[in-house]
Amino acid sequence: MWIFGYGSLIWKPGFPFLDKKNGYIRGFSRRFYQGSPDHRGVPEAPGRVVTLIPEPDAWCFGVAYRIPLEDKEEILSRLDHREQGGYERLYVDVYEAPSPAAPLLVAGALVYLASEKNPHYLGPAPLPVIARQIANSRGPSGANEEYLFSLAAHLRRLGVEDPHVFALEELVLEERRKKT
Ligand code: BEZ
Repeated sequence: MWIFGYGSLIWKPGFPFLDKKNGYIRGFSRRFYQGSPDHRGVPEAPGRVVTLIPEPDAWCFGVAYRIPLEDKEEILSRLDHREQGGYERLYVDVYEAPSPAAPLLVAGALVYLASEKNPHYLGPAPLPVIARQIANSRGPSGANEEYLFSLAAHLRRLGVEDPHVFALEELVLEERRKKT
């Protein structure tokens, strides 16, 4: 049983795993379109975290974790509750590189995503608007910008290109400079 993470699971799985593979899934883009009223924001002022948006021919980097079968129920129920509102579960194939010609690393990894059916889904907005929301949100798990900076740092360290994440990082740093 494999679980594919593309957000905070990249650097903080929070569950035991037997193996781990970095890879790419096809047909989805990572976007800061999901509201976070409970972790990186509060109900009156939700933060934004990433979800996957279907997009033909897009590729999204993430980390696949092989979990012990005996821990499956506990891990899945913890992931079900990690974010409010109920994420959808999907099975995806994980490739070594963002190309259909690349070797298949994992067939059928489980991934969690929030679509517009999720009550906290916020959807698209101009990047400066998303950046301002991230720069000004904080919740029980910490500042929203720390989530973005951690994601950007891990992607950069792994040599992953993600223009949406890096553009937001730049805009949030600019918001920070404006504040000082
Ligand atoms: C992720 O990091 O992939 C993730 C974490 C919590 C809910 C959905 C996805």
